[in-house]
Amino acid sequence: MVMRVLGIESSCDETGVALVELNEPQPGAQSGSGEGAQTVPRLLAHALHSQVDMHQAYGGVVPELASRDHIRRVLPLARDVLARAHVELADVDLIAYTQGPGLAGALLVGAGVACALGSALGKPVLGIHHLEGHLLSPFLSADPPSFPFVALLVSGGHTQLMRVDGVGRYALLGETVDDAAGEAFDKSAKLLGLGYPGGPALARLAEHGNAQSFDLPRPLLHSGNLDFSFAGLKTAVRVQLERLGSSPCDQAKADLAAATQTAIVDVLLKKSLAALKATGLKRIVVAGGVGANRMLRERLAAECKKRGVRVHHPELDLCTDNGAMIALAAAMRVQAGQAAVRRDYAFEVKPRWELASV
Ligand code: KG4
Ligand code: ZN
Repeated sequence: MVMRVLGIESSCDETGVALVELNEPQPGAQSGSGEGAQTVPRLLAHALHSQVDMHQAYGGVVPELASRDHIRRVLPLARDVLARAHVELADVDLIAYTQGPGLAGALLVGAGVACALGSALGKPVLGIHHLEGHLLSPFLSADPPSFPFVALLVSGGHTQLMRVDGVGRYALLGETVDDAAGEAFDKSAKLLGLGYPGGPALARLAEHGNAQSFDLPRPLLHSGNLDFSFAGLKTAVRVQLERLGSSPCDQAKADLAAATQTAIVDVLLKKSLAALKATGLKRIVVAGGVGANRMLRERLAAECKKRGVRVHHPELDLCTDNGAMIALAAAMRVQAGQAAVRRDYAFEVKPRWELASV
């Protein structure tokens, strides 16, 4: 039987809506994967509205503006997705939304719309953990992974290494004790006078710089565990900028950007390889916005190749926040028999929520 899931993402500064289709396994069907009969989910359509331009003037996300903009965008995006997929709203079987973590007001928009649609249509709704969406997102790629794998989750708010044994089977191996890797990119970029979000801008500037020109710290590189710390890095960037004086030349800024990117990537790389070694797993998934970083991709690919490890990424347009990963996670949860589907439409959001507790 075909199951169609409408996914709504509104946890931060992107409104995403998508429709994912899954052929539900027949009762009693078997597969050799140990995960029950798996079928490959198919993305029928997805649409996204980024609020980056709106928040740029403030140098970061303004939660109240984010919520109001999600309200404006979500239904037109949903209409667009359904039209492009040639699917009627009545033919949607399940409505999924990001339940957390994220900005409370922003999450409430997606949750409210999902529950209202579900109630009006008499269809079930399912709240999804945002990071579960990110870590399962490579299942929509041309080269999907198989379980188990190590996941490096690197977004604006999170930096975590997880052991993933199946849908809903997530064990935390290590995480940041302060700033996330994306935050380190964003805050350093802000100090360098680059726009918001800083990650892509800093990575672009770094292309013209020499990373050897500055010696920046790699916190917790030799800590012996799989935790990260990035808060000290922005302080080091600030100190270097102060040394350069009031108007540093473009080359010095590019050099500092390159050194910052290299410091972040060095730590992410070393800890990821340590996680692979500690678990003995031969597969790694890299997900979340920072996963789009080219240097991280290239260096991880090279090191993993030497070790016979397969690296899986979501398609580039699904690296940052989107509705497809939320619809996908919901479909995979239902398929794995792990969905707390609700029909009471009493929605709640979880602005703070540990993935390992899902
Ligand atoms: O996963 P995401 O879209 O949103 C959150 O859930 O936080 O991640 C956004 C983060 C931002 O910090 C952004 O600067 C960073 O991902 N990012 C990048 C790149 N593209 C996005 N960081 C480094 N290099 C990139 N190419
Ligand atoms: Zn995200």
